Amino acid sequence: MIKVITYGTFDLLHNGHINILKRAKELGNYLIVGVTSENYDLSRGKLNVQESLATRIENVKKTGLADEIIVEEYLGQKITDIQKYKIDKFVIGSDWINKFDYLKEYCDVIYLPRTKGISSTQIRNNTNKILKLGIIGYGRIANRFIPESKYVSGLNIEGVYGQNEAKLKTFVQKNELQKYYTDLDTFFDNIDAVYIATPHSTHFQYAKLALMKNKHVLCEKPMTLSYKETLALIELAKTNNLILNEAIKTAYAPCFNQLLGIAKSGVIGNIKNITATFTKLISDKTQREYNSTLGGGAFNELSSYPLLAVIKILGTKYHKIDFSSIIDSSTNVDILTKVNFLYNDALATITVGIGCKQEGDLIISGTQGYIYVPAPWWKTEYFEVRFEDTSKTLKYFNKFESDGLRYEIADFLSSIHNKSKSYKLTDNESLAIAQVIDTFNQNIKHEKNINLIK
Ligand code: CTP
Repeated sequence: MIKVITYGTFDLLHNGHINILKRAKELGNYLIVGVTSENYDLSRGKLNVQESLATRIENVKKTGLADEIIVEEYLGQKITDIQKYKIDKFVIGSDWINKFDYLKEYCDVIYLPRTKGISSTQIRNNTNKILKLGIIGYGRIANRFIPESKYVSGLNIEGVYGQNEAKLKTFVQKNELQKYYTDLDTFFDNIDAVYIATPHSTHFQYAKLALMKNKHVLCEKPMTLSYKETLALIELAKTNNLILNEAIKTAYAPCFNQLLGIAKSGVIGNIKNITATFTKLISDKTQREYNSTLGGGAFNELSSYPLLAVIKILGTKYHKIDFSSIIDSSTNVDILTKVNFLYNDALATITVGIGCKQEGDLIISGTQGYIYVPAPWWKTEYFEVRFEDTSKTLKYFNKFESDGLRYEIADFLSSIHNKSKSYKLTDNESLAIAQVIDTFNQNIKHEKNINLIK
């Protein structure tokens, strides 16, 4: 028996795929097809895959050409597969010519000519017109967003809106954008979707206006500082059939999603405690983070990340929450805040600080062991699953590329194409996060239900 293997993403299965599968099959009597997993595609920078792994496997199955289908999950797997399945021939399209010569040590390597004029990328681009994305704001995060957006195909940054023309000009030049707008209506007339990267206290107004103008919205975190406002935006987006996503980058990162799957798999038993810390020392008190009227303070600035971890893992139904903060006397914002959650069966503590430094790690503790994510855990790319018996430690790595905004951008784009939000950060989860932030701001305003050190 001659065994043949070939690999691919097989997104939106097309004639090019069927042709290569047919020819591969003809080269032997048993064909194994490796279909790439979602995480593997993300980690190798293929961010625009539209169909789920299950759908892509189903479509390959339907061709009737594969005798066996396997999932390709990591770099280097091909060598293992070839030896494990005793493969005689490795087949791949000519776009990969010479790239797999290193496999010649294990089997024949055959590059077959690609079918001309068709590819998944082309189908995606034909069916989904290029999304025209506008940016509101020109600060630090907007500057990081533009280079990251270049890793996601299918969108074009149309321009930026703001009020300060001098700053807009500098931003446009620096980022090689074509246009800036100082008139909001004209800006909205020229785009399909908007990324809001202004100070927190302005998110609601901009997001509301954009949704009323029928634009999809990716809004920097925290989406708003109030439960009512976040709810109003979610309802408006639903009524107008628009995508509204909160840009908490960690939620969309491949390794964080892998971590969630492992945490919930039972491998550490029942989860009983979470501690999550995020501190970022900011010494310049003229910065936005120290401006109480712009929604400054450690909690408003940083809590979205640890809240995400707690709510993703333990859910939205805690029944008690208490806050403690240290307030900076000259600016009146919190420089350190700690929150304790009481769930039915578990505890959680989050710590955030802009005026106090602490190890920024995440620990998820269970009845059988715990998961340790070292700092900076919110740029998740490595974690360990540890047990009483230290020899049983499991280690996971999945790269968080550069600033990591590409994952939230790719998810926003695919949600728009699929006309449905992804599971990565649901409306209910955004609402639960807003609820905690809202409660904190109310408590601090009225100096009630909060332990304060002033
Ligand atoms: N393939 C082919 N002819 C095409 C397209 C793909 O022979 N016109 C082959 C590839 O060379 C590879 C296999 O089909 O061996 C799976 O490729 P995949 O990357 O899934 O398909 P593409 O259409 O190239 O996807 P994309 O545009 O996302 O890169």
